[in-house]
Amino acid sequence: MLDKVVLVTGGASGIGFACARRFFDDGYKVVIADTNEAEGARALDDLNIDASTKEARAIFVPCDISDKLAVHNLVAEALTAFGHIDVLINNAGIALKGGIVDLSESDFDRVLAVNLRGAFLVSKAVVRQMVEEIDNRDDRSGLSQRPYSIINMSSINEDVALPDYLAYTISKGGMRQMTRAMAIELAPRGIRVNAIGPGSIKTAMLAGVTGDKSAHDKIMARTPLGRIGHPDEIAGVAAFLASEDASYITGQTIYADGGRLALNYTMPKVSSDDDA
Ligand code: NAI
Repeated sequence: MLDKVVLVTGGASGIGFACARRFFDDGYKVVIADTNEAEGARALDDLNIDASTKEARAIFVPCDISDKLAVHNLVAEALTAFGHIDVLINNAGIALKGGIVDLSESDFDRVLAVNLRGAFLVSKAVVRQMVEEIDNRDDRSGLSQRPYSIINMSSINEDVALPDYLAYTISKGGMRQMTRAMAIELAPRGIRVNAIGPGSIKTAMLAGVTGDKSAHDKIMARTPLGRIGHPDEIAGVAAFLASEDASYITGQTIYADGGRLALNYTMPKVSSDDDA
């Protein structure tokens, strides 16, 4: 059996859960970290019910990634359960509305604390373990054979801006540079670091848009593929980035955005949509 372990933050629902399920189906052992314990229990149920063996290949650890002690505990529990971590998906993120005129300091701090500081804290704890594993136990001679990979769930908003989600936009811009800086620092050890930049994906985070026709039409006008993306379409990119097929890719963001970043102006209106 594959002895690879993935840790997914915010893995109890949405894109994170799609990643957890994809890696589980690909044979990984899976650690789901999330603040939402009810969704965590549901996620675990979903995974283990589908498993063909009785062996527990997935665990849920309640964790607020902005809390250093909770992150410490998360990594300790992952190591107790599975011994090592090969792939980290920094997926947990929140979006609080507000621009420079009306965004409160506390909302600014909270978004940065989860989206950026949280990813930093989890990366730091996991990288420490990866480096120890590489230095002491990993006998794979070629760097390209090493399975270690960090995937940051960024956004197209690392590159373009949503003015009424100022803190979110700033956090994703920071994630882009965190991806590059970590990729360069960790390349000599054979740890690859990349990001995914989703466009509009059907999850709870997008509920305000998918339930509102005029907001939905605006999104479609900016989406050449003409539909909202499905979380599995992001999980597939994560699976690729963690795989040997991506062994020469580091420091990059792959945009899975239905063509939005390539588009200047808007698309012609279409009468029906075909959401995934
Ligand atoms: P979601 O809101 O559906 O799921 C986020 C998960 O993270 C939830 O299970 C939540 O409980 C968990 N979470 C929130 N704060 C946490 C914390 N402090 N510690 C641990 N877990 C926490 O969101 P979605 O859409 O699945 O987003 C996942 C990632 O993808 C986020 O980083 C988001 O910014 C990014 N993204 C999403 C897009 C979309 O259209 N849905 C577009 C671009 C990026």
